[in-house]
Amino acid sequence: MSHHQRRVLSVASECAPLLKTGGLADVVGALPAALARLGWQSRILMPAYRGMLDQVGSTSEVWHDDDLFGGPAVVRSGTCHGLDLLLLDAPHLFDRPGGPYNVDGRDHPDNPVRFAALSWVGAQVAIHGTADDWRPDVVHVHDWQAGLVPSYLKYAGSDVPTLLTIHNIAFQGMFSPEQLDHLRLPTWDFHSESLEYHGHVSTLKAAMVHATRVTTVSPTYAEELTTPEFGFGLEGVARMRRDRGEMLGILNGIDTTVWDPATDPSVIPYSAADPAAKAENRRALLDEFSLDEPMGPLAVVVTRLTHQKGVDLLLETLPRFVEAGGAVVVLGSGDPAHEHGLNELSSRFPRSVGVRIGYDEPLSHRMYAGGDLVLVPSRFEPCGLTQLYGLRYGAVPVVAATGGLRDTVVDATPANLAAGTATGFTFGDPRQGGIIDAGGLSFALGRAVDLYADRAAWLRLRETTMRESVDWDTSATRYADLFAEMMR
Ligand code: ADP
Ligand code: GLC
Repeated sequence: MSHHQRRVLSVASECAPLLKTGGLADVVGALPAALARLGWQSRILMPAYRGMLDQVGSTSEVWHDDDLFGGPAVVRSGTCHGLDLLLLDAPHLFDRPGGPYNVDGRDHPDNPVRFAALSWVGAQVAIHGTADDWRPDVVHVHDWQAGLVPSYLKYAGSDVPTLLTIHNIAFQGMFSPEQLDHLRLPTWDFHSESLEYHGHVSTLKAAMVHATRVTTVSPTYAEELTTPEFGFGLEGVARMRRDRGEMLGILNGIDTTVWDPATDPSVIPYSAADPAAKAENRRALLDEFSLDEPMGPLAVVVTRLTHQKGVDLLLETLPRFVEAGGAVVVLGSGDPAHEHGLNELSSRFPRSVGVRIGYDEPLSHRMYAGGDLVLVPSRFEPCGLTQLYGLRYGAVPVVAATGGLRDTVVDATPANLAAGTATGFTFGDPRQGGIIDAGGLSFALGRAVDLYADRAAWLRLRETTMRESVDWDTSATRYADLFAEMMR
C-alpha cells in the first residue's frame, strides 16, 4: 500500500518528554513516530509553559495574534526529541510558576481561558494554516484541555474533521456560562444538547458533541463510559456517539524505543532473551531504599496518589503482603492523606516498604526494572500505562480488572498458565461478580506470592510478560484508518 504524506495536528496540554504529569503526555509524545511510519506527518500544538522554549532551542514564528484573550500570542515552530512542535507562546496565560494546571495544589483560576486559548489557536491553524504553509487534513484533540477545537471549527463553518480522544472522562473542563462571550463562544449554543452540562459549560462535553469522531484509550473503557458508574454524567452523550458508530476504543501502546530495558540509560541492561541483569536492578532498588532482601516478590507502584488509583486499597492491603514476605517501593505524589498514609506504612515497615513522595522519571524506570510486580489497583482506568511498562520490564502486573487494565493483562489462572498466555494477576472483574476492593487485591497478591515461590513457573510467566507486544504499531494503524475514514 502506498501512502502519500497526510497531515494531522495534535492539540494537547502535555507531551513527553517535554512536559508530563501522566499518561496523556506519553501518548501524545509517542503516537507521531508510529503514525509517521504510516505516512502521517504530525505537528503537536501545546502551550509554551515557563522554560519550555529553552528546551526546544531554535524556533520560528508561524502564527501570531495581538490579542489572544487578553494578551499577545505567538506560535513558534521547532523540533525536539524528533517531535514537530507548535508552541503557543502567550506569556499572560502560560509563563508562570507551578505545574500546567495548578500551583501549590490549587488550579490556576483562569484555566478555562488558558485552554480555550489553546483550542482557539488549534482551530485557527486548522482553518488558515501556518505561515510556513502547513495545514492539517485532520485535527486530533486530547481531553478537555483541547476540547473546544471542534466547537470553534463548527462555529466558523469549517469542515476540517476532528477526532476527540478521551483519556479520562473524570476531568470535564467546567466553567460558568458567564464566560461564554469572553471565550468567543455563542450563547445560543448553550443548551443541554451542546455546550451545557448542568448549568455549566463543559469543554469535554462540547468535544463529545462536536467532534467528527470520538475515541477512548481502550475498548473496555469505551463500553464503560456509556454507563452511569463510569460516565461521570456524560454517559448519555457517550451512548449517543457509540450507538451511531462514532465512538470506539483504541488501546494505547508505549514507545518501545524509550521503554526498552536493553537500552534504557536508567537501568542495568537486560532483555527477555537475556534477563539475568534484572536481578541486579532489583538488588540496586532494594539498596536505594535500604530494604532487606525479601523472601517473596518486590512490588513497585508508580502513580498519581488519587482515589482513582486505589491508593487506599494499597494502604489496607500492603501490611498483609509484607507479612507474607513481600516488599514494596512506592513512587507518587498527590493527595496529602495518601502521602501521609504511605509514609506511615514505611515507618512501620522500614526494611520492607520504601516510599518516595514526588515525581521522578528516572526512578520510575529503575522501579519497573527492579520490581517483580507492578501494582495497579485502580477503581477505573481508561487505559493505564504503568502495567504496560511493567510487562515490558518483567514486573508482572497485579491489576484491577477494569478499563484498559482488563484489556492488557491476562490473569494467571491455572488454565492460562498452562496455555502460556498468562501475563499477570487480575481481580474484581465485574463480569465474574467481582468488586474492586481490598479483599480482591489481597487475594491477587496472595496468588502472586504463591506463584513467585515456584521459581520455574515464575520465570516462565515473567518471560511471557516481557515478550508481550505493547508497542504502538497495531493501534497507530487503527488511528490512521480512522483519520482516513474521517476525511471521506
Ligand atoms: P495516569 O495518566 O492516569 O496518571 P497512566 O498509567 O496512563 O496513568 O500513566 C502514568 C504515567 O505517569 C506513567 O508513565 C508513569 O510511569 C508516570 N508517573 C506517574 N506518577 C509518577 C511519578 N510520581 N514519578 C514518575 N513518573 C510517574
Ligand atoms: C489518562 C488515564 C490513563 C491513560 C492515560 C493515557 O491519564 O487516566 O488510564 O493511560 O490517560 O491515555
